[in-house]
Amino acid sequence: MGRLQGKTAVITGAAEGIGHAIAGAMAREGAHVFVADIADAKGEAVVAALRQAGLAATYVHCDVTSDADISALIAAAMAATGRLDVLVNNAAIAIGGMPVTEMTDEQWHRLIAVNLTSVFRGCKHALPHMIARRAGSIINMASAQGHVGLDGWTAYAGAKGAVMAMTRQMAVEFGRHGVRVNSISPGTINTPMNDKLVAELGGKLMQAWVTMHPIGRIGEPAEVAEAAVYLASDAAGFTTGIDLRVDGGLTAAPRYVPDLL
Ligand SMILES: NC(=O)c1ccc[n+]([C@@H]2O[C@H](COP(=O)([O-])OP(=O)(O)OC[C@H]3O[C@@H](n4cnc5c(N)ncnc54)[C@H](O)[C@@H]3O)[C@@H](O)[C@H]2O)c1
Repeated sequence: MGRLQGKTAVITGAAEGIGHAIAGAMAREGAHVFVADIADAKGEAVVAALRQAGLAATYVHCDVTSDADISALIAAAMAATGRLDVLVNNAAIAIGGMPVTEMTDEQWHRLIAVNLTSVFRGCKHALPHMIARRAGSIINMASAQGHVGLDGWTAYAGAKGAVMAMTRQMAVEFGRHGVRVNSISPGTINTPMNDKLVAELGGKLMQAWVTMHPIGRIGEPAEVAEAAVYLASDAAGFTTGIDLRVDGGLTAAPRYVPDLL
């Protein structure tokens, strides 16, 4: 039996990258996964591939900056399966690579809307269903960037730090209702988000990332997905309020390498 057999899991930003890997891993563990994204064609393709493999998956268009979309996403999962066991607030964007003095208000507000307000909204709409069943696991995607500094990423780090603080607060507030709330802080992971950054910021960036990780490489989405499956599963029944670092040692031994950047 799969580790998530019979559970319903909603994952935002699941059309590609880490969210895609989490959706696949959770479906293979027996969950009915709700793949939510704004990239409809990619999201539909993810669901088609999972169904082709005999797994339970549904695509829902959801822009996490829209309260109505998130409310409808949670409602769709409840209507189809009658339960909500797992919410992974994963969707985010990377606006950065510039000093905070060069960031516009518009960029700031966009980043906060996608990376932080979305977490508030996801939790707000999911919690009542979890509390009603006295069971649930919320997983918020944070980042190593919320732990250590790197030139050019003040706003992104601020949002991720806030995600971790909110995770702790909600773990305390909703533990008594049977709901666990944890975050994951990945190091640099091989995803389209980072492909875009390397394309924009130059080839030396990848070399710098590899050097920063004591384990000597960047991570794979499947390695983050494994952590998410654990936190979603009953095996993590006594684990709440933590930030699980899946970062190849990045935050254990911060290495600042300005000569490569
Ligand atoms: N890749 C990394 O190195 C890394 C490191 C630390 C943390 N993270 C975090 O992991 C999560 C996933 O990152 P990734 O690298 O897989 O990103 P990605 O860009 O590869 O994928 C993100 C997905 O989110 C979707 N998305 C973007 N805006 C959205 C919106 N408004 N509504 C709904 N969906 C939206 C995109 O369409 C895409 O499918 C993010 O929270 C990111 O901050 C990533």
